[in-house]
Order: sequence, then structure tokens, then C-alpha cells
Amino acid sequence: MPKAKNESQPTRTAIAIMAAGKGTRLKSKHPKVLHEVGGKPLLAHVIAAATKVVPANDVYAIIGHEAERVRAAVAASGIGFVLQEQQRGTGHALMVAREMLAPYDLVLVLSGDAPLITPPTIERLHDFHTSKKAAMTLLTARLENPTGYGRILRKKAGDDVQAIVEQKNLSPAQQKIPEINAGFYAFDTQPLFSHIDKLSSDNHHGEFYLTDMAAILDKAKQRVVAVQASNSYEVLGGNTRAELADIDQHMRMAKIRQLMAAGVTILYPQTCVIDNDVEIGADTVIEPFVQLRGSTRIGSDVRIGSYSVIQSCEIGDYVLVQPGCVLEHSSVNVRASLGPYSHLRPGCEIGEDAHVGNFVEMKKTRLGKGSKANHLTYLGDTEVGERVNVGAGTITCNYDGVNKHKTIIEDGVFVGSDSILIAPIRIGKGAYVAAATCVTEDVPADSLALGRARQIVKQGWAKEKRERAKAQKVR
Ligand code: UD1
Ligand code: CA
Repeated sequence: MPKAKNESQPTRTAIAIMAAGKGTRLKSKHPKVLHEVGGKPLLAHVIAAATKVVPANDVYAIIGHEAERVRAAVAASGIGFVLQEQQRGTGHALMVAREMLAPYDLVLVLSGDAPLITPPTIERLHDFHTSKKAAMTLLTARLENPTGYGRILRKKAGDDVQAIVEQKNLSPAQQKIPEINAGFYAFDTQPLFSHIDKLSSDNHHGEFYLTDMAAILDKAKQRVVAVQASNSYEVLGGNTRAELADIDQHMRMAKIRQLMAAGVTILYPQTCVIDNDVEIGADTVIEPFVQLRGSTRIGSDVRIGSYSVIQSCEIGDYVLVQPGCVLEHSSVNVRASLGPYSHLRPGCEIGEDAHVGNFVEMKKTRLGKGSKANHLTYLGDTEVGERVNVGAGTITCNYDGVNKHKTIIEDGVFVGSDSILIAPIRIGKGAYVAAATCVTEDVPADSLALGRARQIVKQGWAKEKRERAKAQKVR
């Protein structure tokens, strides 16, 4: 695909994705096609499927409502865009795209709000269309509850279609038709564009319905056929929040089944939220109530504890993430362990065999191989070498109210508990920082930094205090 018409003139196929609508039924300030399922905008899923069927430069999104936001969100895909300034219906969307699409022989039209569509189904629509030598082919499905969708009026026998009737215009008898219009079409561009001006906006919404092309082409003695999708859920459209939730559920359960088939253990899978682009190696265990989001990649033999939320991280093999960790845009190397309750903000790199423990927060910090920060610590903009021990309650003061500064802790350093490191600062290789020191000057290698108030002891003070209090009560 695309198939050759003859040796010298291959059929040119474009894909047009209708994505200009506002999505009134979502009652949202965001455009419909940017609402997310499986952790990605609806439109991004449709583009991903389309670009597996034809090259990206033959794919066009028809955008309109909040066009610049929509374009920016999917620009990296390399597809083209057509602006439908006023959204006057799905038929109007194609009228606006005429100039872009007319040079092609065939156009496959997809709905930007139906993200479960797969490349094999798009190919099936294409192949059915060409094999039937049709002018228009529509993808259909049989739904238990067809309410809201356009219905297919088939001719007596075979694949031919007489018309599509929108929900609003159904007669009582037609309401029982279970076969719906999925909103995916194949057109030969020549008949499409020579008849598209016959569309009228004389209907309930005052819109140009692309669905009316079926009856228009049929009347013009052009062949209109329908092919049924083999998986009816592939055609589900997200017009309402409830429909979006349904689609999201379908997508995530399919993803989870695919991961399990590849050797990942997922306990209580219904409770886990795993985005579509996440990758996980075999023999990794995902405990209940875990969220794995964005482009997260997890190695093999990893364990991810309950209530952890991991956003776009790289996690190496044999890593242990104990419950309750929040990890964002960071990487964790082999055999490292985190948590419970560790927080990696963006830009952290945790070295091999390193440990990050309870209530430790890091930001833009590299923790070297075998180093440990096990309890109640904040490290920001910090480079920690190998085999370093960062004691409980250590805080880097990386921010002076205006600028951020770096802390460097070289290999083999021991930082005592409750130390305060005022950046910019460097602690040299093998040095010691005594507990509760406020480090304001660089510490040379192999030395001890000790900076805390000297302790005074007043013998008998407490006993005398108690006795004074007792005497006062008696009086
Ligand atoms: C449409 C079909 C209906 C079908 C259903 C399948 C029409 C008239 N009806 O209804 O038969 O059963 O899809 O899901 O086509 N759009 C534009 N420009 C516009 C209007 C819409 O680009 O001017 C885009 C929308 O952003 C959306 C897609 O076209 O991605 C479909 O529009 P929508 O309003 O969702 O149509 P439905 O009511 O679902
Ligand atoms: Ca729709």
C-alpha cells in the first residue's frame, strides 16, 4: 500500500484527519482533540496510526478551534496542516482541504477524536475501497447502543450504501439500525471534489455534513460501499467525558495485557495507570496502584512499589522502588534503590547501587555509584561522587533568593547528619563533615570540617528547676 494503478503511475494516497471542532459536549476550555487518553492527546494517537500507513508528509490535520495550540502539540509528527477557520461541519472541513488533497488520487479521512483506530483497519478500509472500485467507502460498526451515531442505510444486498442518516434525522424505524457510521472514509478525490459543492447546510445544525456525500454520490451513479470494522471498539469517539473515560480504559487495559504477554507481572492490573508509550522489561513486578506515565522506560527484574508515580523516567535493571515514590524526568541506574517516599524532581541521575531513602528530595542532582542519602534530605543542583554517605537531615542551600548555585561532594566523602551546605561549595575527596555543621567554605580533600556551636553543660540545672517549680506550687 499504496497500490500501483499501473507501472508508471502509482496511486497517490493522502490521509486527512478532521480535528477542527471545539468539542462542545466536553464542556472544556481545551480543544477536544487535545484531551488525553492513554497519556497522549486524542489527535496524537490518530496521527501515530496514520503515519504508519502513509508517510507523514501525506498526512494532513484539518485544524480550526484553537488551531495554534493544536498545531504546536503535534508539530513534531511532521504532518501537514490545513486551517478551517470557521468550523461549519465535517463536509466543510474537506471543502477547505480541497487544494491540498486534490493532487492525490485517493484520500482516507479519519476523525481526530477516535484514537483507537489501528493501522490494519485503515489499510483494510483502503484495500476494500480499491477492490470494490468505489468512489466512497465508509467504515462501519455494529454497536449495542448506537445512539448518537449516524446510521447506515444499506441497499438490499451486498456492500452498497444508499445513505447515512444522522441521529437527529432518524425515523423511529431507523433508530433500530445497529450499524453505525464510524466517521472513517475512503474517497477517490476526483468524484469527491466534483460533487462536494452539492452539500447543503440546510439541516438541524446548519452544518455541511460529510455524511451526506453518500447519498449525493449514490444519486450521481457513483459507487458507495461500507466495510465493517472487525473490532467495534476501534471506532469509539470521545465526544463526552464519559466516552473519553471508556476509551482510556480500553487503551490502558490493552497496554497492560500487552505488557503481561511480554513477561511483566502487574498485580491488581485494574488499579495501575500505565501510559501507552511506557516500556517495561521482563520479570519486572508492578505493585497495585502504580502510575507509569509519559515516556517512562523500565528495565528487567525491577520492582515498583505501590502508590509510586513515575513520569518519563529511565529505570535500569534490578532497581527497587519502594512504595510511595514520585519520580519525574530522571534516570535510575542498575540495582539502585529508592524509597519508601523518595522524590526525584526533574534532572536527577541515581548511580548504580546507590540508595535514596525516606523523605529525600532531589532536584538536578547526580548521586554517584554506591552513594547513599537515606533519610530526610534535600539535595538540589548537586554533584555527589561515588561511595559518599549523606547523613540524615542534610540540606543543600542552593538558592540565595535570586540565583541557584552548585554543590559538589567528591568521592568517598562522609557528610554527618543535619549538615547545612551553603552553595556554591565543594567538599573535597575523602573529607568528613561533622554532624550539624553549617558548611560555608570549601573543604579540602581528606580534612574534617566542623562548624557548630560549642556545647555547654550546666550540672544540676534541671533538678534545681524542678525543685523551684515544686516550691512555687506549695506556696
Ligand atoms: C460524526 C458523523 C457521524 C458518525 C460519528 C462517528 C458527521 C456529520 N457525523 O458525528 O455520522 O457516526 O462522527 O464518530 O460527520 N470537525 C472538523 N470540522 C468541523 C466539524 C467537525 O474538523 O467543522 C471534526 C471534529 O473535530 C471531530 C470530527 O470532525 O474530530 C467529527 O466531528 P464530530 O462533531 O465529533 O462529529 P460526530 O457528531 O461525532
Ligand atoms: Ca465525534
